[in-house]
Amino acid sequence: MSFRLQPTAPSRPNRCQLFGPGSNTKLFEKMAASSADVINLDLEDSVAPTDKDIARANVINAISDVDWGNKTLSVRINSLDTPYWYRDVVDLLEQAGDRLDQIMIPKVGCAEDVYAVDALVTAIETAKGRSKKIAFEVIIESAAGIAHVEDIAASSPRLEAMSLGAADFAASMGMQTTGIGGTQENYYMLREGVQHWSDPWHWAQAAIVAACRTHGILPVDGPFGDFSDDDGYIAQAKRSATLGMVGKWAIHPKQIALANDVFTPSDDAVSEAREILAAMEHAKANGEGATVYKGRLVDIASIKQAEVIVSQAEMIASNQ
Ligand code: COA
Ligand code: MG
Repeated sequence: MSFRLQPTAPSRPNRCQLFGPGSNTKLFEKMAASSADVINLDLEDSVAPTDKDIARANVINAISDVDWGNKTLSVRINSLDTPYWYRDVVDLLEQAGDRLDQIMIPKVGCAEDVYAVDALVTAIETAKGRSKKIAFEVIIESAAGIAHVEDIAASSPRLEAMSLGAADFAASMGMQTTGIGGTQENYYMLREGVQHWSDPWHWAQAAIVAACRTHGILPVDGPFGDFSDDDGYIAQAKRSATLGMVGKWAIHPKQIALANDVFTPSDDAVSEAREILAAMEHAKANGEGATVYKGRLVDIASIKQAEVIVSQAEMIASNQ
């Protein structure tokens, strides 16, 4: 480890973030009753320009009127290139109750985007005497966002989570696809005439995970558009979990259980991790830094790997 220690990310479950348009009030109670860890009420791209004002008012009312249980409650505001975002922030901070946990800033392209929202939020919190400090989460969904991802991860002490937004990201990058995440038909390699599909989202996910882990932020995989394709969602989520992401968005309720399942360490994985920790305790007692577990090397690095799985499982269990 560097002399500069890696900060720990917020210790709260973030396996699934369920989205719903702020204009669709009939979804709010259903979202609250779901088993998603995080709720994202949307003021941005799922709300038509003509509905922005009504959606904002709906969301402000719902923050206080609906029982959100112990979920993390987040509102996605409009991006900083629109005329809507400042009103989203001002009305939310002036009018919404203390149940609001987090603001999601979409299409962040540089650290200054977060700085601007932070300045406005801080001023209103102080002016209104709000006792609870609002947290931030951001979406990396542009070429600028991924190019400046580490600066963005370091941009504000309010920042708790960062998601990859595949659709806007693909558009900004000029990628030849209309799919929202998942396998892309033309992204393959050939070996002896057989196609092998590769993962075009992999590098951006890995860059996000590295930036997040460097700055103590939760890395999250964004939406998977084809909600009729459970297997595709699961495959994408498993790749994200393997890379170090802690959760994934749901844009339809049927995706919630899929995300919760993938991002909750399995009983087998936890048992194996505990066995590795026990094997290393035994090794240490014998003055050894390495030993053999099920025919393979485990050493001091294996302790840290096993602890990631055990601590994630314990944190999730303690929040049930
Ligand atoms: N949260 C909670 N419940 C939801 C829901 C959501 N996001 N989306 C749908 N449901 C409910 C429906 O109301 C319906 O409930 P019912 O059985 O009581 O009638 C049930 O789940 C089945 O819904 P279904 O008919 O399959 O979908 P739909 O046609 O009503 O809605 C979408 C499909 C995609 C329009 C809708 O899921 C949606 O708005 N998703 C969120 C989009 C969003 O927020 N995008 C921004 C982030 S990318
Ligand atoms: Mg987007």
